Amino acid sequence: MRILVLGSGAREHAIVLALRSERAGHALFAAPGNAGIGEDATLVPDLDPNSPGAVTEYADAEGIDLVIIGPEAPLVAGVADALRARGIPAFGPGRAAAQLEGSKAFAKRVMDAAGVPTGRAMRARTRAEVEAALDEYGAPHVVKADGLAAGKGVIVTDDRAAALAHADAYLPFGEVLVEEFLTGPEVSLFFVSDGDTVRALSPAQDFKRAYDGDAGPNTGGMGAYSPLPWLADDFGGEDAFVAEVTRTVAEPVIRTLDAQGTPFVGLLYAGLILTSAGIKVIEFNARFGDPETQVVLARLTSPLSRLLMSAASGHLEDEPEPTFSTDVAVTVVLAGEGYPESPVTGRPLHGMDAAASIPGVHLAHAGTALQDGTLVGTGGRVLSVVATGETFAHARERAYRALAEITLEGSHYRTDIAARVAAD
Ligand code: AMP
Ligand code: GLY
Repeated sequence: MRILVLGSGAREHAIVLALRSERAGHALFAAPGNAGIGEDATLVPDLDPNSPGAVTEYADAEGIDLVIIGPEAPLVAGVADALRARGIPAFGPGRAAAQLEGSKAFAKRVMDAAGVPTGRAMRARTRAEVEAALDEYGAPHVVKADGLAAGKGVIVTDDRAAALAHADAYLPFGEVLVEEFLTGPEVSLFFVSDGDTVRALSPAQDFKRAYDGDAGPNTGGMGAYSPLPWLADDFGGEDAFVAEVTRTVAEPVIRTLDAQGTPFVGLLYAGLILTSAGIKVIEFNARFGDPETQVVLARLTSPLSRLLMSAASGHLEDEPEPTFSTDVAVTVVLAGEGYPESPVTGRPLHGMDAAASIPGVHLAHAGTALQDGTLVGTGGRVLSVVATGETFAHARERAYRALAEITLEGSHYRTDIAARVAAD
């Protein structure tokens, strides 16, 4: 197949690597991509991934069979709608269904209509409404911006003044959501959907906070692992857990979106929290998670292209369940200096080949570029080191040995990714 992947993160690199590993001889294109993706796909740097017209023209002219949309911005811009209108299969929801991620209030309305278990929440348009909601739920306080905020729109804090200040920062742009605080382990579960049928992938856990011990600010994600062996304790294992979430969350949401005329074709990301009162949804995303994709796709043993093409062309019902390796996967994100507050860019990266030569290790690039032939970090989450192994202890040892090979001045990474499951 001729496949175009939109985006430039480690998630998109992981998608490209999974497509390449099929050895089906796909012709892979990426826009805009990054230096690492450029090793594995043909970059189309001049194509604006957020322009519905430009992407459709390019895909049409180049005879692209399938467009895979990585990040949320092209979804919200309507790129998938334009492609489908031209008859080009696109993996990613249209603008209307992407509101499931783009608007927390829309997501809450869909969850209410679908009867999906989630925490209590109140929408607030004024400071007085925020204060009333904070008092209603008590501490710890959870305040969320309504629109897309690249993982930075959420604050979870015991400090009422900090919660109010966060609300003040976002109220000028629209309403904010004040939520009941939920507690328990978090799970990221991905569902592929063609608007009607769903197929679940293997679950993963993400580490959202910047520093070890879950300290520091929320980030897009500093590491992840898959599968989740501890699901065996409360749910009798992954299959039973996945079946329950499919029945209580994914299928009702997909049915509701279809019934309201906004069918969801693409990746439904359920961010779940396993509370003592049962499984609850914290958020939905309308795209693959980053960095969870790096570990989930590292374990996928059935062809990704067929799964996503079946979804994009409305034939998921005929597609067998995806299969996964019994090997485990761990990914650790190397972040540039100053991430997440004020990223520093342009510093050279060294030791990449030595890191990638460790058995079971591969690198998924995010913020990298070639400057005069030198590989540099362009800030933010620079790359994901991904390691597989028979045990978490083994995969972790490989990932951290690879990180020790890489130098990038001022960079940081968490040292405790998957530490608890490795010790169990
Ligand atoms: P979100 O962007 O909605 O996924 O929120 C980012 C992170 O904030 C989540 O992964 C949780 O760790 C935390 N969080 C969000 N909502 C809640 C909640 N209601 N209770 C506890 N933690 C939450
Ligand atoms: N890792 C969280 C996300 O992709 O939103």
